[in-house]
Amino acid sequence: MQNKKRETFSSGLAVFFATLGSAVGLGNIWRFPYITGMNGGGGFLFIYILCMLLVGIPIMISEFYIGRKTRSNAVGAFRKLNKDNFKFIGLMGVVSAFLIMFFYSGVAGWVYSYVFKSLMGTFKGVTPKQAENLFTSTISNYGTAYLWQVIVIVVVSTILIMGVKNGIEKVTKTLMPILFILIILIDIRAITLSNSFEGLKFLFKIDFSKVTKASILVALGLAFFKLSIGMGTMITYGSYFTEDNDMPQTALKVAFSDLLVSLLAGVAIFPAVFSFNMEPTAGPGLLFMTIPLVFSKMPFGRVLLTLFFLLTSFAATTAMISLVEVPVAYLAEEKKMDRKKAVILTAIIILLFGFLATASIAGDNFIASIKLFGKNFFDFFDFISSNILLPLGGLFITIFIGYVVKKEDVLNELSNNGRINNKNILNAFVFVVKYVAPILVVVIFLNSLGVFGK
Ligand code: PHE
Repeated sequence: MQNKKRETFSSGLAVFFATLGSAVGLGNIWRFPYITGMNGGGGFLFIYILCMLLVGIPIMISEFYIGRKTRSNAVGAFRKLNKDNFKFIGLMGVVSAFLIMFFYSGVAGWVYSYVFKSLMGTFKGVTPKQAENLFTSTISNYGTAYLWQVIVIVVVSTILIMGVKNGIEKVTKTLMPILFILIILIDIRAITLSNSFEGLKFLFKIDFSKVTKASILVALGLAFFKLSIGMGTMITYGSYFTEDNDMPQTALKVAFSDLLVSLLAGVAIFPAVFSFNMEPTAGPGLLFMTIPLVFSKMPFGRVLLTLFFLLTSFAATTAMISLVEVPVAYLAEEKKMDRKKAVILTAIIILLFGFLATASIAGDNFIASIKLFGKNFFDFFDFISSNILLPLGGLFITIFIGYVVKKEDVLNELSNNGRINNKNILNAFVFVVKYVAPILVVVIFLNSLGVFGK
């Protein structure tokens, strides 16, 4: 992946699956359900979808443009467009990638460990209380949890050293469809549980009474996180896109598929929450406490449960590959570091700070007692990246595309020099990127600070 002989994905389908591989991950399967649960369900979902449509998709298209136009990493892209003043957007992205990896690799470690536990039959016939205890002991044994996190980081680094094409493409193209089918299978099982309707009502009934100012910012942050935008991942991936790719269409397809996977994950989890009398507000443990229960009384439960966590671990891994690719491509191309060295350096930083996240969520130890702005390390890394840095990065990207680069350039690149006829989509895109997305982000920020009243 040197500048001269830069690789691209091999086909349109490969572009789609690789990008989807970045978008679909723990954000959909772990984060979306628990955050929706903590923020009241359907009303939050509605706001989330608005954020995705009006802010997320236009930013994704913008990042694709920047990446493919410059065929460069997130920092070099701005340099190549002769906008050195905007390089800070790329650098912010590098920082965000690290902050996200610090906790994401830890959660991926929980998932890896659940593959192993399911395989060993740990969840056979568990009760809701036992499922809860098993999760609590998974995170509170932070030595073991950290060991799994180390395994995760080693796996991700190895795939990255193998390179873009071999690594990313092969994994995503095969596994995404299988994961999709498996989640649908779980959905069918979940819907047939007693009291499942309560769960569906919780997820889909639009009720704004529980939506707070803080939760609107959380919805916005979730949209950025889930779509992998606002931090240069999609710039970096766009830089590997084929010349003939219809990028606005790719963005739409990826965003809607990502939404679909999240909704299917929600339909797998919320019926179980209500059927087993658990709390939708349980937090980060929600996935780990409910899914084993859904499978526990099902034929082939153990095999299917293992398969579920295995595929979730793959989804998490492809998402992490795209996260780590941001600093790696930056170090390799801007700092002229050998790619292998860049991966190893990045991995070491993640290993060091990742420990803080993992120990801080274990409770009852010195690291857990340290608070930054009232949050432990895990929550702090999460909050600063998802709810502050990504939306801020996204805001700057919309300003950059809407007001700094030449409109003709953007339209040319996004229509493949007029080869695709997508005038209407592009007009809508330009309007939203200039007038809707940036204003919404600013309003949501100000609103969360209480500027428009309590
Ligand atoms: N979108 C990924 C997920 O949902 C996480 C991610 C965020 C990946 C930012 C890359 C960049 O799990």
